Amino acid sequence: MCGIVGYIGPRQAQDVLISGLSKLEYRGYDSAGVAIQEQDGHIDVCKKAGKLSNLAAVLEAEPLLGTLGIGHTRWATHGLPNDTNAHPHASEDGKIVIIHNGIIENYLPLKEQLTQRGHVFRSETDSEVLVHLIEEKYAQTNNDLYEAVRLALGDVRGAYGIVVTHADHREIVAARTVSPMVMGVGEGEMFLASDVPALLPYTREMVFLHDGDMVILHDDGFKVTDLAGREVQRNIEHIDWDAEAAEKGGYDSYMMKEIFEQPTALTNTLIGRLHDDTGEVNLDIKLDPASFKRISIIACGTAFYAGMVGEYLIEQLARIPVDIDVASEYRYRDPLVNEHTLAIVMSQSGETIDTLEALREAKKFGAKTLGIINAKGSSMTREVDDTLYIHAGPEIGVASTKAYTSMVSAMLMLALWLGRARGTLTEQQSRELLLAARELPRLVEQLLTPERVEHIKQVAEKYAYARDFLFLGRGVNSPTAYEGALKLKEISYIHAEAYAAGEMKHGPIALIDEHMPVVVIATESKLLEKTISNVQEVRARKGKVILVLSEGDTEHARYGDDVIYVPRAQEMVSPVVNAVALQLLAIFTAQKLGKDVDKPRNLAKAVTVE
Ligand code: F6R
Repeated sequence: MCGIVGYIGPRQAQDVLISGLSKLEYRGYDSAGVAIQEQDGHIDVCKKAGKLSNLAAVLEAEPLLGTLGIGHTRWATHGLPNDTNAHPHASEDGKIVIIHNGIIENYLPLKEQLTQRGHVFRSETDSEVLVHLIEEKYAQTNNDLYEAVRLALGDVRGAYGIVVTHADHREIVAARTVSPMVMGVGEGEMFLASDVPALLPYTREMVFLHDGDMVILHDDGFKVTDLAGREVQRNIEHIDWDAEAAEKGGYDSYMMKEIFEQPTALTNTLIGRLHDDTGEVNLDIKLDPASFKRISIIACGTAFYAGMVGEYLIEQLARIPVDIDVASEYRYRDPLVNEHTLAIVMSQSGETIDTLEALREAKKFGAKTLGIINAKGSSMTREVDDTLYIHAGPEIGVASTKAYTSMVSAMLMLALWLGRARGTLTEQQSRELLLAARELPRLVEQLLTPERVEHIKQVAEKYAYARDFLFLGRGVNSPTAYEGALKLKEISYIHAEAYAAGEMKHGPIALIDEHMPVVVIATESKLLEKTISNVQEVRARKGKVILVLSEGDTEHARYGDDVIYVPRAQEMVSPVVNAVALQLLAIFTAQKLGKDVDKPRNLAKAVTVE
């Protein structure tokens, strides 16, 4: 994902920018660039496709001298990763330069209008509309850079971390919505970055910008406002994290950090792809949705459970037969595949050998192939016909969290795309689901508020010494039960099993006694009453019930020994919200037992052996 660094002060900006960008390399990127204001105001731009070292080598040979600069590592979304599409982008007269993280969702109509007004676009990026808009507003506001940026942002919809400077001003203007940004405060110098590690070598005094904040930086200070131009107070915080803690963003583990990153990860998965005005989903997939008669989903572990949610969603919304396999079985079971099959491989790493080999098997029989993948440029992305990136950002914790919820969201979009293309979903139905999907980042954010998190921690600690757990769910949330059980066993080493709730009476019920905690996902759904009947069966055998209920459901709360309330979500999107509650249950249980949640025993992040 893109990285941002900005500097104004007495040092040579080039050094600060390259050192800062190198600390952000872990985010993944495919080109890099800097813009540096010389002493006479003239701005030089240098940008290169590929590794940061390509850019650094050019700058080392011919340094750009100047003490104000902005730098960027780009992770391509709109337009190829080449020199032209790399940031910064400059206005035609070269005086305004910008860098941008995120996606401008309405860039196409804006680009059209700007082109009609005579602007010439040089790149294929969505970001370039920002520089042209700012250029227009700059002229309209009597050369006020801050005001020009503020007004331009009023015209755009989407996510952004934007940093702007102008040859005639010794100042940097920045703003953020969704995309993170932190400001470093030095003595007679100021810094900006998309993440703390970029700034730690220079200052530990930092200001975390909030959603909707704008800021103007000068050598000796800063002013924060909202997008309406009203000044807001943001505290300077002293950051005493060491390098490792900084990478964890101040959380005690990568896994916890990644759980809390889910609102942003989900925004990145969904953004620019949902068009609620028309009910269409734009996934940039070249495959013809009318060309296949069956879908085979293939994945391992957590990705497999995301695939199970996909099976429900695609069959219900697009009415295509779907089968799903764990990749290690698919390879050897001589599956029925032909050119009318769409094989979907799902993988966070894109490297899992079982999934990769299963993909090759499907291709051998002529299947069309689609990857739902997180890691850019990974082996699977090079072998599939098309890739639907989930854009969850790097996942370091071995137990998968944000990749799961982003994969489920990607599956929902795929099901909607198929349903619309095949005529099984009306515009109205699609728009309703699309709006429900749009809500996901906000719903997960609501779940991650301190009071709710603390309550889940208390529940987790109460049952942490149980020997076994059972997880039950129905319909689109039966995979949530499987994923909840997997998360718990992976990091706490407590034995946990999951069943579709209606299946419990066919065997697992024999396990239930007063020592068995049973986690039941009983959020709002067509089958809620049936799930509650299953809860009664557990209670009749003295099992301890931990109920996951939709906010406000007081009617069913009495059936639980403990209740975890989650924000109310439309049933089709609820697996995303419910999974987050179970991730928290698992991590707090493991932490209570003193386990290292980032490095669970015997597990590897990417399993590249059979
Ligand atoms: C569970 C987990 C594993 C992976 C599985 C597939 O938390 O992380 O079960 O989901 O090994 O990995 P990817 O998605 O990289 O193919």
